[in-house]
Amino acid sequence: MNKRAWITIIISFILSWSIVIGWSASRSFDSMAMASVDKATGNFKIGEDLYVENCATCHIPIPPSVLPQETWQEILETPTNHYGTKVEGLTGFTQRLMWQYLQNYSRQLLKDEIKPKYMAQSRYFFALHPQINFSSTITINSCIECHSQGQNFDYSYNE
Ligand code: HEC
Ligand code: HEC
Repeated sequence: MNKRAWITIIISFILSWSIVIGWSASRSFDSMAMASVDKATGNFKIGEDLYVENCATCHIPIPPSVLPQETWQEILETPTNHYGTKVEGLTGFTQRLMWQYLQNYSRQLLKDEIKPKYMAQSRYFFALHPQINFSSTITINSCIECHSQGQNFDYSYNE
């Protein structure tokens, strides 16, 4: 066999093992009870765990329901261009499971509606806050003012 064939075999071996290891690691994450907005069940649980694992390191985990499916899709598809930074380590397999989760817990835009980049531009964010007159601009840092457990993916309101 030539050198190239050997490299291909070795790479596919490493890849399949990282999938197996990644899978079991995400399964063991299940045991960490996490209160969330719409608690993911069944098949979506792995996607939710991967989402929290990959998307809550630099900022709090953002609930899927506050943004449309189209925005989540763009975020997952362009990890190297993420709001001025880069999200590392999103493999195709991880992306797929995360997409299934995000897609299931968010909604589509209406026809001709502009895709929001930020929660502050998202109709879905305001739909979840019908009674509230926000005095300051909404940013990813303002959630904890009213959702003190946001970091734990728990968006219940602190009375
Ligand atoms: C390397 C750090 C990092 C990682 C990892 C990361 N983000 Fe971000 N994210 C940022 C930064 C920085 C911003 C911009 C925050 C700001 O505008 O103040 C941001 C902003 C966002 C916003 C917009 C927030 C708003 O104001 O509406 C969303 C949505 C988002 N990230 C989703 C994700 C998702 C989904 C993942 C996982 C795939 C992820 N992030 C992983 C750094 C990161
Ligand atoms: C000024 C206070 C305030 C701020 C700031 C705020 N929220 Fe809320 N949020 C609320 C209140 C009040 C509710 C409604 C609680 C209810 O009626 O059950 C709510 C509800 C929600 C819900 C629905 C929860 C559920 O279980 O149905 C989500 C998701 C949510 N907020 C996410 C966010 C995110 C993400 C941010 C930051 C970008 C944010 N909120 C900022 C006050 C706030």
